[in-house]
Amino acid sequence: MQIVAFNSSPRDNETSKTELILQKFLEGARRAGASTETIYLRQYKIKDCLGCFSCWIKDLGRCVQKDDMAELLFEHYLKADVAVLATPIYYMTMNARMKAFIDRTLPLMDPLAEVGPEGGHPYRYEKVPKVAVLSVCAFWDQSMFQPLSLNMKMIFGQDLIAEIYRHSSEALGIPRLQPQVDKVLAAVGRAGEEVVREGKVQEETMAALTQDLAPATVMMEMAREYWTQMVEQAGHK
Ligand SMILES: Cc1cc2nc3c(=O)[nH]c(=O)nc-3n(C[C@H](O)[C@H](O)[C@H](O)COP(=O)(O)O)c2cc1C
Repeated sequence: MQIVAFNSSPRDNETSKTELILQKFLEGARRAGASTETIYLRQYKIKDCLGCFSCWIKDLGRCVQKDDMAELLFEHYLKADVAVLATPIYYMTMNARMKAFIDRTLPLMDPLAEVGPEGGHPYRYEKVPKVAVLSVCAFWDQSMFQPLSLNMKMIFGQDLIAEIYRHSSEALGIPRLQPQVDKVLAAVGRAGEEVVREGKVQEETMAALTQDLAPATVMMEMAREYWTQMVEQAGHK
């Protein structure tokens, strides 16, 4: 199985929590025998979709624009057995870079193919990847992922095989929480293995992966302490 991960965080790999969770997931996938590749969307030029439908009318299945999405990333997406779409939560959903990437996969769709009762467009390509979505958010509640989850389910339907959502992302590096963090990261690795071996993540793994690191009141206090310290260090009063 060939897994291609697309990480849309703008942060460097040492800072990005999307990257932390993504790489644990991919480590697990490799343990189960998959080959993996990570593409950092911040390194590429991805223009916004023009909405011209040229990919449906003129140059069928190809984008009219000249940029890294049309000339490189689209092919990488197509060659994957599983594409991992890894995005930080920005304002309750995927960030703009991931949205631009998904919008630019419109050439995959065929407007003439038969449409199901709920609408939508089938693919024009014979082989398109299954999709696993992976996301992190700073707040300490799993409900933060509801809009993204609904969005991804509606976009990918049956092709969506896994959703890996980790809250309290910015607390993953706090030393005193490391015993719980280690359990979470081990569960993320197991999720990667299960996706390769079983095509889905087991419920126990998901429960371990989404477990709280501390009660909400403690998380809130730690967040306040962190930001106070950051503001003070920056020299503001
Ligand atoms: C513009 C912006 C919007 C954000 N919106 C949310 C949000 O709605 N909910 C949340 O829990 N965290 C939110 N965050 C926090 C990020 O999800 C969090 O810092 C995450 O770790 C970023 O991922 P990264 O480290 O891979 O870049 C936001 C961050 C930014 C910069």
